[in-house]
Amino acid sequence: MIFEKAKNIVEKYNQEHLLYFYDELTGTEQADLLNQIEKIDFSLLDSLKPENKADTKKGKIEPLTKAATIADIQQNAEKYRNIGIEEIRKGKVATVLLAGGQGTRLGFDKPKGMFNIGVNKELYIFECLINNLMDVVNMAGVWIPLLIMTSEKNNEDTMNFFKEKNYFGYNSDYISFFVQDMAPSVDFDGKIYLESKSRISLSPNGNGGWFSSIVRAGLLDKLKAGGVEWLNVFSVDNVLQRIADPAFIGAVIKSGSQSGSKVVAKTNPSERVGAMCLENGMPSIIEYYELTEEMANQRLENGELAYRFGVTLNYLFRIDKLEDINKVKLPVHIVEKKIPHIDENGCEINSEVPDGYKFETLILDMIHMYDSCLPYEVDRRKEFAPVKNAEGVDSVDTARELLRENGVEI
Ligand code: UTP
Repeated sequence: MIFEKAKNIVEKYNQEHLLYFYDELTGTEQADLLNQIEKIDFSLLDSLKPENKADTKKGKIEPLTKAATIADIQQNAEKYRNIGIEEIRKGKVATVLLAGGQGTRLGFDKPKGMFNIGVNKELYIFECLINNLMDVVNMAGVWIPLLIMTSEKNNEDTMNFFKEKNYFGYNSDYISFFVQDMAPSVDFDGKIYLESKSRISLSPNGNGGWFSSIVRAGLLDKLKAGGVEWLNVFSVDNVLQRIADPAFIGAVIKSGSQSGSKVVAKTNPSERVGAMCLENGMPSIIEYYELTEEMANQRLENGELAYRFGVTLNYLFRIDKLEDINKVKLPVHIVEKKIPHIDENGCEINSEVPDGYKFETLILDMIHMYDSCLPYEVDRRKEFAPVKNAEGVDSVDTARELLRENGVEI
């Protein structure tokens, strides 16, 4: 891109300050900065307008009317498992690991999956996930494709780590990496931050862009050519989750749903987890901060919490529907964060409190675009050990305790 064109763009969006240090830069740095300006999706800035804020646009929220509960699953376990195994053997299921996040709460300076959760031996988060998937590979007797989403910030480290660890015994022919998009960070007035004089402050654009990134990477055609019909998408941080779980796949298929979500019963009404619900009669997820106190405590006739099922970020999606969803723009969420940047004098600023916004699209918004989603309840002490924080709730310590409880040697 030439300077004049970049100048026109930044002027159009009131972001002239991005070129403020241009004359001080070397030729390479100048080219790099222009290149970044060319790639930015400036339309994201529109989502700062109050009328466009995603979180203020919820429809009528009601409790779920059906779910596969633990009791139901236990009764039908064998039937569900057989259906799922059959689908896996026919090559109809692939898995997608979302590992593009920054894991700021954990405070680990490498990709979260490289964290060693072991105590007496090395046991990396990525390794736990591969071990869990291997259980199904061994049961079904076939390799299951695993797609791993990274970001520009952690792609190289992640790929090198898997290679160095020999893919933890997984067949690397069945592993593909793809990189998600980045979005600019802005101050509270909507001005895009500079990270340095030649670098715009960019961060991964949330986990909602996973499918469009798969398409852009050319992986969808590959999946479809291989006959894949279902994608099981999961987060990097739940070290106990069952991946490509045959019973989950079987239950979703048997129910005739086009998607499914592994859920856990909330520990208390105000637990900080998104809950499955109906929104205008369609499946949806309501964030804990969107639930009023009254809704959080609402009870059904049987005494159970009306919004009792928290999502675990382990979803099953039919691919054909994802292709329709991909034609529609997902809502953009604006999240307050601490953003390292430089000020107008070029001095580095590292605030102790949030000082700007990041733009994110979220996978949970995809659920509302499906006509049907089966909530599939799992026992949280057996399948839910998220590593979000360094200490306290959902931390390294709680995950270690749960790993031990489930007989995993750590
Ligand atoms: P989180 O919402 O926990 O975010 O991600 P995070 O970035 O990992 O952690 P914090 O909030 O900074 O502490 C849930 C899942 O979505 C993935 C994460 O890697 C994790 O598996 N994710 C998140 C992405 O793949 N890309 C993103 O841009 C954000």
